Amino acid sequence: MNVDALKREAAAAALELVEPGMRLGLGTGSTAAHFVDLLGQKVRAGFDVVGIPTSEATHVQAEKAGIRLTTLDETPELDLTVDGADELDSRLRLIKGGGAALLREKIVANASTRMVVIADAAKKVDVLGAFPLPIEVVPFGLESTRRCIVKAMIAAGCDGAVTLRLKDGHALVTDGGHFILDAALGRIPDPEALALGLSAIPGVVEHGLFLGLASDAFLAGPSGIERIS
Ligand code: 5RP
Repeated sequence: MNVDALKREAAAAALELVEPGMRLGLGTGSTAAHFVDLLGQKVRAGFDVVGIPTSEATHVQAEKAGIRLTTLDETPELDLTVDGADELDSRLRLIKGGGAALLREKIVANASTRMVVIADAAKKVDVLGAFPLPIEVVPFGLESTRRCIVKAMIAAGCDGAVTLRLKDGHALVTDGGHFILDAALGRIPDPEALALGLSAIPGVVEHGLFLGLASDAFLAGPSGIERIS
């Protein structure tokens, strides 16, 4: 089975948790897109839910799929968010932001009673950090912020290059109008310490370490779905 089919299986497993009338956070990325697609099929068959997209891309997809949408201002508390991840460990600590949507993803996950991660099983790691950690920053003072990030990394026991994410030769701009710095760390021995250090830097808007937010994960592998809770 190819990776995309595994992603769809994970999405289908999470769909089983959705009940009529739920207020749902809709994630971003290729795995979350499968969930939105499957949810759309259910909605068009008469199932009523309301969704909050975590990116402009998901907004467009969900709208086309016929899913009723709202905002966190109208609906500040959600029942369930279903989203992908770039990496996760056995304690449901995540790296997210590969699709540059980490800020809205974290706000939406934090507003939800439950966050469920959907992924192919290869995303599960023993130690976070092989996937470069995305950090969303304000464009003003970029180099100064980058140096503060390097210091915070060293203080948290990790090291590696911190580079500006580019798109078509220019700095990628997020839905919130910010830039993304990717920290290639290899391993993050103490994600909590790094998260604290990064959050204390004024130019950092948010980082891609999602700690204490996910309650379950559905991981699809060749031998079926593994559920971590
Ligand atoms: C977007 C994300 C995605 O959830 C993450 O990048 C996983 O994407 P995919 O499902 O395409 O592998 O964090 O910001």
